[in-house]
This record gives sequence, C-alpha cells and structure tokens, in this order.
Amino acid sequence: MQLNFDIDGFLRDHWQKKPRLIRNAWTRWANPLEPDELAGLACEEDVESRLIVATGVGPEALKVEAGPIPQARFGKLGKRPWTLLVNAVDHHVPEVAALIAPFRFVPDWRIDDVMVSYATEGGGVGPHFDQYDVFLVQGLGKRRWQIGAMCDGASELLPHDDLRLLANFKATDEWVLEPGDILYVPPGLAHNGIGASDDCMTYSVGFRAPARSELIAHYVDDALGRLADDDRYADPDLRRLDNPGEIPAEALDRLHAMVTETLGDRDAFVRWFGGYVSTPKYPEVDWAPEEAIEVGALRGMLADGVALVRNPASRFSFVRQGGSDVLLFVDGECFECRGETAAFAERLCAGDRVEIAPRLSGSDAALALIGTLLSQGSIAFED
Ligand code: SIN
Ligand code: CO
Repeated sequence: MQLNFDIDGFLRDHWQKKPRLIRNAWTRWANPLEPDELAGLACEEDVESRLIVATGVGPEALKVEAGPIPQARFGKLGKRPWTLLVNAVDHHVPEVAALIAPFRFVPDWRIDDVMVSYATEGGGVGPHFDQYDVFLVQGLGKRRWQIGAMCDGASELLPHDDLRLLANFKATDEWVLEPGDILYVPPGLAHNGIGASDDCMTYSVGFRAPARSELIAHYVDDALGRLADDDRYADPDLRRLDNPGEIPAEALDRLHAMVTETLGDRDAFVRWFGGYVSTPKYPEVDWAPEEAIEVGALRGMLADGVALVRNPASRFSFVRQGGSDVLLFVDGECFECRGETAAFAERLCAGDRVEIAPRLSGSDAALALIGTLLSQGSIAFED
C-alpha cells in the first residue's frame, strides 16, 4: 500500500505545524487486521493493552481496565460504548508493520510504533492531547474526529485516575473518517475520536521526540559511567584572595568547564544517542535463536546468497563517520562498520529485508556483524 498525497507539500505546510485531513490517502486501502485478531492480542500477557468503557455520560465516566484483557470480558460488555487500545501491534503483525513503510519520509529514529484501537459506536478515549505527532489512519468503520486548541502543560485537565482528559475541550472542526482516510495531528493539538459505527478501527502511526529533560538525564547517567572518581577539581596555581568568602571567576570557569567539556563531547554523545534511541521499547518480541549459529555454517549460508529480515520490534539506525565508514546502531548496540560492511549496514537500515551478495561471505567483519545481529535476535534468515 502506498500513500497518494503530496509528501513534500505536507512536510512544508503541516508536519509539526497544523492538522491535515487526507481523504482516501492510499492507492488501494485494505484493512490489515480483523477486530477478532486485535481482541486476541489484547488477551496476551506480553502485549500492552487497555479497555476503556463508558460507564455513564461524559469523559469523567470513562473507566480504564488494564490488559491483558480476559477473553470472556468481551462477551460481557453489553450496550455501553467501549474502546480497546493495543500498543505496538506492528511488533506482532507484519501486515500492520507494513503500514509504517509509507511514512518513512520521516526518519526511522523518530517513528515509535502503531497503536490500534477498536471502538463501538460512541466509544473513545475522550478529549486529550499528545506530545507526539500522529497519523490516525481509519481502517474499518467510521470515526468522528474533532480537533480543538493547541494545548500545553498549563492546559486544565479533568480529575481522572487513569486518563489525561482536557477539562475545556471545544471542537473547532470535525470530520467523519472512513476507511483509508487519514487525519494528521501535530503535537499538542487537542483531539477527540468517537466511534461513529460499530467495528471502528483506527491505526495510530505514532512518532517520538525526546524531551530535553529525558536527554540530559539519560546522557548524564551514561557520562557518569565513564568518569573516574579521581577526576577532580585541582588548583595548583591557587593565589590568596582579599576576601576568602568569594568564589573567584577562575574557579568557576574551571568548574563549569569540567561539566561542559564532559557533556560537550559530540563523539561520545553520538555513540550514546544511537544506542539510546535504538533500544527496543518491547524486548519481549525475542528472535534470539536457542543455539548460536557457528561461523562455518553462517559463511556457507551467506555464500548461497540468502536474505535477512529484521525483527519488527528491533530498531536500526546509522550515523555517517568520515569517508564511507558508519556507526550502526541496533537494539542499543553500536557497531563500527567500514567498507563493504558499512554498505551492508546502510542497506540493512534502508529496508526490512536485505539480500546478501555471496561475496560478503568472504568478509570476516561482515560475518562477525551478521553473526552478532543473528544471535541477539535483531535479524533472522528469511525462511
Ligand atoms: C484512538 O485511536 O482512539 C486514540 C488515538 C489518539 O487519540 O491518539
Ligand atoms: Co491522541
């Protein structure tokens, strides 16, 4: 499936700026998942899900039940509107993972996952805003989407134990989305989706944008691991001051430099960030083989020109170094790649499936990389 709208125009005028309704956005739309299959996933221990039931009128009456949802629960929901939300369905269903590919005009490191919701008529999560960009793809049935004002940390919320619902949501626009329609919602924009038919399924292709606080906290944590306890302030050039109560500018410069030199090391930052951003959110989708493949067997398979596929729960990114060298980041690990191994790393980052040129079996570096990625479960041979 491919998108048939003007992507450059979208990036210029809408991405991170304003909402956009795209009617009939696909060359050919086919709903990739049945409602029953979604309910089945919500019953599983390793899958994150929530059931939200309207127990009365208004958003305050929404009750949240955390997954896994017992299968028998679905038979007891009765006539009250409800919605089921399942996170990271792309990690479990290849047909849902395929929905991400058309949105790769945004780099992979910004993509989070695909949440899928099912709602009966009137069901929804209530008016709220998200910190992230989202494409709301209508898969099946109809949903009424309302949008409102831009919100931030100061926007008033309703008292609710489990949901961050807006207290003063006023719809400024609304549309009923049909299968194949997409609503793009930028970060901070208030929105409210209400099932407008039974069997309403919405696929949220969500993005991520690290908070400055999160970056600093995690990067500092990483830097601390690299610092020695005896790396301390020193002042062999100490001179007497008129007032011993003063902290002199030279001392402050030196102290400030101790912090900024450590945190300002761009190379260390790049290596940390690549590992951080490629760490999987749901490591439960484990492809690691029971037994490690031995080098001779691996060389033989590569020489036969096999194809490799990526674990949909794994994250792959690369950073260019000097020349053709790259740093490859996979599931939190960093690999320095040169020459044809670097070319392989780039191809691995470009697509979900890579055909191996038989001559790569002659490269010890490529063999070592592929062996490690296979044994950590990030890739597998296509069977
Ligand atoms: C939904 O699918 O009901 C919620 C998606 C969203 O509002 O982000
Ligand atoms: Co939302």
